[in-house]
Amino acid sequence: MTSSAAQTPGAALYETSGLVEQYLEFHYGPEALGVRNFPVACVETVMTAIGPGGRDRCLDVGCAVGRSAIEFARQFSHVDAIDYSAGFIAAAVQLQVEGSVDFRVPTEGALTVERRVSLADLDATPLASRITFATGDACDLPADLTDYDLVFAGNLIDRLYEPQLFLAAMAERIRPGGWLAITSPYTWLEEYTPRQHWLGGYTDAVGNPVTTLAGLTAALAGSFSLQQRQDVPFIIRETARKHQHTMAELTVWQRH
Ligand SMILES: C[S@@+](CC[C@H](N)C(=O)[O-])C[C@H]1O[C@@H](n2cnc3c(N)ncnc32)[C@H](O)[C@@H]1O
Repeated sequence: MTSSAAQTPGAALYETSGLVEQYLEFHYGPEALGVRNFPVACVETVMTAIGPGGRDRCLDVGCAVGRSAIEFARQFSHVDAIDYSAGFIAAAVQLQVEGSVDFRVPTEGALTVERRVSLADLDATPLASRITFATGDACDLPADLTDYDLVFAGNLIDRLYEPQLFLAAMAERIRPGGWLAITSPYTWLEEYTPRQHWLGGYTDAVGNPVTTLAGLTAALAGSFSLQQRQDVPFIIRETARKHQHTMAELTVWQRH
């Protein structure tokens, strides 16, 4: 698939050693601090929001190590799941093909504990063949990734080098009546997204604050209408006793 490494310096951070293990723990490890598993909670909330309807094709963009793709495969006949990070996709494919992945997570200092995730434990063995994992760029999607009933972008938009390119493509990739579900904590950082491409989180030329929700609405209004908006918390475990606690906003948009 297309590679735009020169344009995505921030995305390279996801290849850092330890992040694959951290995301395997985030997606497949035990729940921490009483907060529900984030990909599972997102998929459940999205499926409730969109109601009955097309269950043919789903795209999970920025799928990382694959948990939301697996959960969507319980609902859709086919799921395409792409991520810029080769390391994340390799872990997802290992789980899909070999049926399990062993990894270690830090507990304290240099100490670690072993984990194992398996499709059997997820009750997902028959679902694996419904998913196509691949590396790819959300801002330059291959032409064959189209005709979707649902596109899910979990905590992706504030990690893109030009989120407007991704959003503009959605009207062409989603079927009329289909859905776009976006979660994000709106943590804009120049190391991922040059400031001129932030969707919000800045003041305009006359000093008025521009929120990311306003930026999303402006980018999508021509082809989508906002149907649901809600907070979804998540926990990323750093060590046995240190966690990041974040609140993402989920917005669900329907294609006109
Ligand atoms: C904050 S993580 C979220 C991962 C996952 N969706 C979740 O909710 O746990 C952002 C993901 O976006 C991916 N990413 C960053 N830039 C990308 C791009 N241009 N195209 C596709 N994926 C990208 C990263 O590799 C990473 O997996």
